[in-house]
Amino acid sequence: MKIIRATDYRDMSRKAANFLSAQVILKENCVLGLATGSTVLGIYEQLIQWYNKGDIDFSAVSTVNLDEYAGLSSEDPNSYGYYMNTNLFRHINIDPRRCHLPDGTAADLTAECLHYEELIQQLGGIDMQLLGLGENGHIGFNEPHQSFAQMTHVVELSESTRAANARFFSSEEDVPKQAVTMGVKRIMQARRILLCVSGQRKARILKEVLFGPVIPAIPGSILQMHPRLTVVADADALAEIRG
Ligand code: GLP
Repeated sequence: MKIIRATDYRDMSRKAANFLSAQVILKENCVLGLATGSTVLGIYEQLIQWYNKGDIDFSAVSTVNLDEYAGLSSEDPNSYGYYMNTNLFRHINIDPRRCHLPDGTAADLTAECLHYEELIQQLGGIDMQLLGLGENGHIGFNEPHQSFAQMTHVVELSESTRAANARFFSSEEDVPKQAVTMGVKRIMQARRILLCVSGQRKARILKEVLFGPVIPAIPGSILQMHPRLTVVADADALAEIRG
């Protein structure tokens, strides 16, 4: 595990964007695993800036997102599909046909999970998976106490996750109760993982994730076992971890 210390959110975003951009430069047809949430917004802004300067070419890149809410289409402003289009895809020269998210509106979500797994296999697996961290230690939408062994699956969202994500919705009631997420096993199969964490409210959980016991109660703790994990975190998030 490599920990990169950033001074603040802006610095974290820039350093993390550097890793993603290096991946695209090293392998122009790479498969990037992408994430949503507020932590990664600055990373996408930075990538767009470098694209506009002519420094990165996304034309051969494929992407697979970690998760999507059940029942929301990419037209819905609260969906992760909408988030990705608005915050990254439409600003860069990526081919929309190569941008993939689970289809939260699929009539049979279990079949959609299998389909998403097949797609990732066909793409040859994920070269670099970007991850944020939930306040309860979740990665993607893998909630505490779920099996580490799962591939893409349907998940019931915990009350704490629904409350944490309610800020994006008009009310907590509107936050979907289910989502489709890549499972921990699928995430762990990525060739490289880039975990990005910012802010003091993640400091305690980040310490547990990186240095506590590897237990399903803290889904992110499994990342300790990944051979190529890079953590980019700002000083606030690293407040409980000595340099
Ligand atoms: C959501 C996403 C996660 C993300 C987490 C943290 O629950 N499904 O993939 O890591 O939020 O979000 P934030 O970066 O906004 O704290």
